[in-house]
Amino acid sequence: MAEVEFTDAFTSAAGADLASALFEKAYGQAPTGVWSAPGRVNIIGEHTDYNAGLCLPIALPHRTFIAVSPRKDTKARVVSAMNPDDVVEVDLADLKAGGVEGWAAYPLGVAWALREKKLPVSGFDAAFASCVPLGGGLSSSAAMTCSTALALDEVFGLGYGQMDAGRVTLVEAAIRSENEMAGAATGGMDQSASLRCQEGYALLLDCRPELTALENVSQKPFDLTAHNLELVVIDTQAPHQLNDGQYAERRRTCEEAAEILGVANLRVTADSIARSDDPFQALKETLDALPSETMKKRVRHVVTEIQRVRDFVAAFAQDDIARAGRLMNASHDSLAADYEVTVPELDVAVAVARENGAYGARMTGGGFGGSIIALVDKGRSHEVAQKVADEFERRGFNAPRALAAFPAASASRDR
Ligand code: GLA
Repeated sequence: MAEVEFTDAFTSAAGADLASALFEKAYGQAPTGVWSAPGRVNIIGEHTDYNAGLCLPIALPHRTFIAVSPRKDTKARVVSAMNPDDVVEVDLADLKAGGVEGWAAYPLGVAWALREKKLPVSGFDAAFASCVPLGGGLSSSAAMTCSTALALDEVFGLGYGQMDAGRVTLVEAAIRSENEMAGAATGGMDQSASLRCQEGYALLLDCRPELTALENVSQKPFDLTAHNLELVVIDTQAPHQLNDGQYAERRRTCEEAAEILGVANLRVTADSIARSDDPFQALKETLDALPSETMKKRVRHVVTEIQRVRDFVAAFAQDDIARAGRLMNASHDSLAADYEVTVPELDVAVAVARENGAYGARMTGGGFGGSIIALVDKGRSHEVAQKVADEFERRGFNAPRALAAFPAASASRDR
């Protein structure tokens, strides 16, 4: 059986060197600076962000690095280490929503979104180097949009990047870029994680739109080492896509359900069920009011998942790792049976991790491919990942890749 490979994170110096070297090769001079932003894994709370719910991401140590220099005109040029000979160039003055194809839509869309907000962003040259696995459901796109947002914030003196509350403006620009320039639906968790997580903490993100930047996040200690734990990410390498219509369809069903229930969003429903004397009965009555089996299942996932986030936070804080693990398992099972966003690779990886001693294992991110996370005893990540790889080989799936996750820092300047 082939040995499973782990993807290491770049150090800050190595990432900055790679992005700077690419910048110099493409544009013939040194960049003004280098910034970086992380990918993320969500510990629990999936498909809740666009329902004004709760989620609990951590920033990965794996980051996307951007070397940038501002220009005096409105031209923007971007190049990536994935395709070092292909510099994509646009004039920001003429750029419209949907006006860029391919990967360059993500960074250029951030500049567009900031300019749409009438912020003083003009042309720039940029070069990217990343160790966030692509297409693994680990938010490589948010790492790219958020590193771009922070870099442009600083080179154009916007002043939003210094403080957590200001970063919400950069989060919004990153979301707009993905939604309106790249055409990828996304709910906001990934960009908030990339710009607002803190080292050693999980970010409890409350997505109710009426909350201010000071109210919608709370940092929850997530010190795995102190608990003798490790979090292993296994990227199934199953094809993963968010913009193929499935994600948008799930969102639409939730919005329709909220309309039928006469609430602004499913969070309102989840909260009133949680507050009722008999939550089981209240959930049943809610589901009875919905017209289709599919809609009932989607709503049941969202309502129970929001509660699982609260329960997980409490269990972890009380050092009840067995319970925290069971909640992760319940989250996956709900995503498989009720939300129907898993694929065989995700279900098999989760089953093998559980059989091999994980406290909990679940898919993370949007689903339809991508990665799982497994909470295991310290020192067991390799063994568990290897068991998954062996089973994948037996079944003829693509070879998975793994990485070691811990709660790392949000976007920052590297050089
Ligand atoms: C993707 C989206 C997020 C979130 C998750 C599911 O990662 O980008 O906004 O909706 O799916 O939790």
